[in-house]
Amino acid sequence: MITSGLTSAAYIAASILFILSLGGLSHQESSRRGNIYGMLGMAIAIIATIFHIDTTYYWLIVTLMLVGGVIGGTVSQRVAMTSMPQLVAILHSLVGLAAVLIGFANYLDPGTNHHGVERIIHNSEVFIGVLIGAVTFTGSVAAFGKLQAILSSKPMMIPGRHFVNGGIGVACIVLGFYFVEAANSNLGVPFLIAMTILAMLFGLHMVLAIGGADMPVVISMLNSYSGWAAAATGFMLANDLLIITGALVGSSGAILSYIMCRAMNRRFLAVILGGFGTSGSSTVTTNYGEATSTSATAVAALLQSSQSVVVVPGYGMAVANAQHAVSDMVRHLRTSDVDARFAIHPVAGRMPGHMNVLLAEARVPYDIVLEMDEINSDLSKTDVVVVIGANDIVNPAAEDDPSSPIAGMPVLQVWNAQNVIVLKRSMATGYAGVDNPLFYKQNTGMLFGDARESIENIIKHM
Ligand code: TAP
Repeated sequence: MITSGLTSAAYIAASILFILSLGGLSHQESSRRGNIYGMLGMAIAIIATIFHIDTTYYWLIVTLMLVGGVIGGTVSQRVAMTSMPQLVAILHSLVGLAAVLIGFANYLDPGTNHHGVERIIHNSEVFIGVLIGAVTFTGSVAAFGKLQAILSSKPMMIPGRHFVNGGIGVACIVLGFYFVEAANSNLGVPFLIAMTILAMLFGLHMVLAIGGADMPVVISMLNSYSGWAAAATGFMLANDLLIITGALVGSSGAILSYIMCRAMNRRFLAVILGGFGTSGSSTVTTNYGEATSTSATAVAALLQSSQSVVVVPGYGMAVANAQHAVSDMVRHLRTSDVDARFAIHPVAGRMPGHMNVLLAEARVPYDIVLEMDEINSDLSKTDVVVVIGANDIVNPAAEDDPSSPIAGMPVLQVWNAQNVIVLKRSMATGYAGVDNPLFYKQNTGMLFGDARESIENIIKHM
C-alpha cells in the first residue's frame, strides 16, 4: 500500500496529463501526443488507485482487470472503423451502468456511518449519481441501437411525450426528497429503485424520440452525461481524481454538444425535447425529375481538365473504406497541378471528427482539409465537387424546404460548383431519411457503385 500523500501526488500528475491530453486532442497535428498523455495519465491513475487500497482485494481487482482487458482488447481489435460510433455509444452505456451499480452498493454499504447533514449530502450524491447513470445507460443503449440500425433512425414517440417527460421529472424530484430524508437504507432503497426505473425509461424515450439528423447532438450529450455520471461516482467514493476526470469529460462533452448544435443550427433544449427532426417533417415525396448517371471514364476526363476540385467525404466513404483510394486520387490530381482539396462538414459520418480520422489514416495533408465554414464560399468558384458517399450534408432541401426535417441545418453548398459528381450505390436516402434534390440537378452526374471501386476505376482512367 502507498501513502495518501503519494496517491494525491499521483492523482495530481494524472489530472495534469488528462488536461494536456484534451489540449492535444483539439488539433489534428497534436492528437497523437494527446492520446499518449491520456494513456500515461490513465496508467498512473490505475496504478495509484490499486496500490492505495487494502491488499485483501488485489485478487478481485486483478481478476476483473484481466477479464475487462481481454474483452476490451478483443472488441477493439475486431471492431470495424464504421462501427466505432456504436462502440463509443455502448462504452458510454457501461459508464452509466457502473454509476448506477456503484450508487446502489455505496448506499447499502457506505463504509462509514454518515449522520445529520453529512447523511443528507451523501444521499443526495447517491441519488444524483444513480439518476445521471440510469439516463446515460438506457439513452446510450438506444443510441447504440439506432447507430447499429437495429432501431429505426426515425423518431419514435409516445403521445403526449412532453407531459410524460415532465411527469417523470416531477416524480424524480418527489422521490429524491423522500430518499434523502429516509433514515436508513431499508427505507430509502424503494425510492432509489423507483427513480432508477423512471430515469431509465426517460433515457430510452429521450433518445428514441430524436430524429436521425439530430443524433450527433445526442451522442456528444451522452458523452457529456457519462462524464457527469463518473464525477458523481467520484463524490460518492470521495475520489478526487474521478471527480476531476468526470468533470473534464462532462464539460468537454457539453462544449462538443454546443458545437454540434451550432453546426446544425439547432437549440440544445429543442433537440433534447425532440423539437427538431421529429414533428413537422415533410412526408410529401416530390418529383424532382430524372437523375443523370455518368461513368468513371467521363469523371476521370472531367477531373483532369479541371483547375479546382473539392472532395466532400461522407459516411459512405467510411462504409466503402475508400479513404486510401480517395487520398491516391487527390495526390494524382495535385501532382497534375489541379488544386484538389477536401471539404468537411461538422456532422459528416457518424461521430465527431469521423472524416478527419479517416483522412489522417490515409495520410492526407492537414492543410488541404478544410472545414465547412472555410470552404463554402469557394464552392461557387470550383470546377468539380466530388461527393463521396455523402448525402444529408450536401442536401439543398436544408436551405430551400422549410418543411424538411433537416431544414435550417447548414450544409455544404456543392450545387453552386460548375459540376457535381456524386458517388453512391443507389438513389437511397441518407441517415435522416430525406430525399436529396441535388441528385437531380442539371450540373450533377451520378456515378453509381461502391465508392472505393468507383474511385479506383477513376484513377485507372486518369
Ligand atoms: P448520410 O447522409 O448517412 O449518407 C451516406 C450515403 O452514403 C448514403 O446515402 C449511401 O447511399 C452512401 N453509401 C453507403 N455506403 C456506400 C458505399 N459503400 N459506397 C458508396 N456510397 C455509399 O451521410 P452524411 O452525408 O455523411 O451525413 C451524416 C448523417 O449522419 C447526418 O444526417 C448526421 O446528422 C448523421 N449523424 C452524424 C453523426 C456525427 S456525430 N457525425 C452521428 C450520428 C448521425 P447508397 O446506399 O445509395 O450507397
